[in-house]
Amino acid sequence: MNTSKIMIKTENLILKPISLDHKEDIFREFTSEITTYTYPKPPEKIEDTIGFIERAMKTNQEGKTLLMVVLKKGTEEFLGCAELHNIDKDTPELGIWIKKSAHGHGYGREAITTLKVWADQNLDYRYLLYPVAEENHPSRRIPESLGGEVCCDYDEVSMSGVEHHILEYRIYPEDKSPQ
Ligand SMILES: CC(C)(COP(=O)(O)OP(=O)(O)OC[C@H]1O[C@@H](n2cnc3c(N)ncnc32)[C@H](O)[C@@H]1OP(=O)(O)O)[C@@H](O)C(=O)NCCC(=O)NCCS
Repeated sequence: MNTSKIMIKTENLILKPISLDHKEDIFREFTSEITTYTYPKPPEKIEDTIGFIERAMKTNQEGKTLLMVVLKKGTEEFLGCAELHNIDKDTPELGIWIKKSAHGHGYGREAITTLKVWADQNLDYRYLLYPVAEENHPSRRIPESLGGEVCCDYDEVSMSGVEHHILEYRIYPEDKSPQ
């Protein structure tokens, strides 16, 4: 499924496929503070962000990912990115980041809930993965709000060279219980 033309509107948000229209926003907002607990590191130069977006546009076209920018409904202010990786497999993986100045308004939870609903309607999956550093409490609240449960844990060294203890949540489809 080519996901590069999918647009989703929610109560407060618009999710649009990632594109070079947002290269400056992503370059500016994906900071070292935002990546404290994430695997990727911040871009050093705009070319890094352009390369990331071009790869993401390609995997969206190939039907491997649903990589979206999160915009505020009405103003279309850039808020962050919401992602589903490996949608061609039976255990796709969720990812989310929201810019620092927009934290705490429920946008992260709303965006991920939207991707979960999209997955329920469009994918045949066993469960969604949501890996998160143990200390990242705001992020952990998101899979927990969707009934996610920790299935395993491991240590991982991020691209910035920091080791985190990762908890891997599994979130099951609406009509299926854990097997
Ligand atoms: C994780 C992240 C996406 C959450 O986005 P957000 O829009 O601020 O989150 P929400 O407003 O939807 O809140 C999600 C939960 O976190 C809680 N929360 C928000 N800010 C918090 C804070 N500073 N401390 C503790 N809890 C917090 C909220 O209360 C909410 O829980 P609740 O629904 O039980 O009340 C955001 O903090 C972020 O981008 N962090 C950096 C990147 C990152 O770590 N991404 C996740 C990788 S797994």
